[in-house]
Amino acid sequence: MVQKASAALTDMLQQAIAREIQVSVQYMWQHVMAKGLESAEIADVFEDVAMSEMKHAEKIAERLFYFDVTPTRSRPHQGRREPERNARGGRNG
Ligand SMILES: [Fe+2]
Repeated sequence: MVQKASAALTDMLQQAIAREIQVSVQYMWQHVMAKGLESAEIADVFEDVAMSEMKHAEKIAERLFYFDVTPTRSRPHQGRREPERNARGGRNG
């Protein structure tokens, strides 16, 4: 039996995964931009943090899958609206 999340929980999970992916890209970009000998150590730190943030996104993705919700590819909404349905009949967000 598929567990269903409330609309509020679905919204929070959608916003959370979007935020984790956003910061992962941000840190990865900082890793790429950090060039030169003086930036070598901090570049590695940015890369580690980027990967850590992506792991956070993975945990949220696992929870979304548990609730049969597909991560949205659009900007998560702040307010309440009628959820879309995915191919399995679950909510998209
Ligand atoms: Fe995070």
